[in-house]
Amino acid sequence: MHIFKSTVGRKILMSVSGQLLILFVLVHLMGNSAIFLGPSVINGYAEHLNSLLPLVWSMRVAMLIALLVHVTYGVQLTLENKEAKPKGYAVQRQLRANFASRNMIWTGVLLALFIAYHLLQFTFKVTPEVAALTATIGRYDVYAMVVTTLRRGVIAATYIFAMVMLYLHLRHGIPSFLQTMGWNNARTLSPISAMGKAVSALLMLGYMAIPVTILFGVLNI
Ligand code: HEM
Repeated sequence: MHIFKSTVGRKILMSVSGQLLILFVLVHLMGNSAIFLGPSVINGYAEHLNSLLPLVWSMRVAMLIALLVHVTYGVQLTLENKEAKPKGYAVQRQLRANFASRNMIWTGVLLALFIAYHLLQFTFKVTPEVAALTATIGRYDVYAMVVTTLRRGVIAATYIFAMVMLYLHLRHGIPSFLQTMGWNNARTLSPISAMGKAVSALLMLGYMAIPVTILFGVLNI
């Protein structure tokens, strides 16, 4: 089909899949923030999700498809762009380019690696520290799992680093998807770019608050 082959079609698929992933990131942050309300609230929320398994699985399948589409076309379009770029120009024209926009592929790859690690840790519970913990507590305790894991400096630092990658990726990703969908124009360019920065910064700080408060013992067991 044309949409899977043409550059514009694939850009639209990247944009729509990116929007679904951003929606997940927003909802996931709201759910995770229940940790600040104490063990019973976040564990109750996790139990409630477990009682809605068909819904949770539909969401998981949709997110997995969105992630695969986003990563596949992201890599493909980046490689094609590289090949198409004329070589030997003394000055490379990079319209409104900045560190975030030039490194979307790298922040994206690092985020994908983080997601793989994160799923092994908290969804499949197979990383050593979580596997040992679930064996001792013997029941599903999200609060204990997250706090015991993120109070380790190296793991907290990994999360904090991943949140900076999330900020850089979304800082360009948000204005970019609005542009692809035709929801941006010369007049809205600057406010939309500022909004992209602000939303990404809020998401980064919101997520970072969890490992930081755990590391400093504000959230503890
Ligand atoms: C401090 C930051 C974060 C914490 C504490 C956290 C916590 C968790 C926990 C506890 C789970 C397991 C849920 C369950 O199985 O019941 C989970 C799953 C997940 N997290 Fe995170 N998360 C964080 C950041 C992120 C970020 C930034 C992303 C995406 C960029 C992300 C993507 C996911 C995904 C895709 C799942 C699987 C959802 C599912 O199995 O339904 N997380 N997270």
